[in-house]
Amino acid sequence: MNKESLPEGRFLSSFVRASEIPVDRPQICVLGRSNSGKSSFIARLMKNSSLVKTSSKPGSTITLNVFSWLHLYLVDLPGYGYAKRSHKERDQLSGIIHSYLEKKIPPVAGFMTIDCRRDLQKEELYLADLFKKKDIPLNLLLTKADKLNQKQRSSAEKRFKDYAELFHLHEFISSTTGRGFDGLFNYLKTLG
Ligand code: GTP
Ligand code: MG
Repeated sequence: MNKESLPEGRFLSSFVRASEIPVDRPQICVLGRSNSGKSSFIARLMKNSSLVKTSSKPGSTITLNVFSWLHLYLVDLPGYGYAKRSHKERDQLSGIIHSYLEKKIPPVAGFMTIDCRRDLQKEELYLADLFKKKDIPLNLLLTKADKLNQKQRSSAEKRFKDYAELFHLHEFISSTTGRGFDGLFNYLKTLG
């Protein structure tokens, strides 16, 4: 991929409440299990590796990290599924994702990251269903595609095909090699 063809983005701010995010631009959100590659995806998209945040460490404040990119705001939702989180933190996390999706002006699209070596689990299926109910297109990003060879990718592709109807599009990406980013960029340009 030609990295230069992507516009640069910038970090806007971290917000504790979804209602605090400015609404002067259409929003897209990135959500996924902790460690599934959300921040790496955003950093690659924005050509800015220093944007990768480690703020979701257990015990730290759970925030919505917002970036401006193209004509959009991109919202990095906190990663779920981190086993070491307390029950209180998990409730807080689920609350913040729900309140984000239920806010007055919903996102124009969502991007769910999943490590392509793993399977969708109940959390992903639950969230995908929530997007469907709210009629927000959700796209599945099969991350870390550089970790699989061609044969392994086609067998992963077969596994994910079963869930294809839940997602607007699904795409293998690699934030390391840039695989999949050109196509995504063309799609992102059309949103809003
Ligand atoms: P949380 O912020 O905890 O929710 O995690 P995250 O979803 O933001 O994941 P993050 O981008 O921090 O990536 C987690 C780990 O996977 C890091 O060690 C990354 O370097 C690695 N990683 C992310 N994307 C890729 C990729 O495309 N290829 C490879 N090989 N490693 C990746
Ligand atoms: Mg992250």
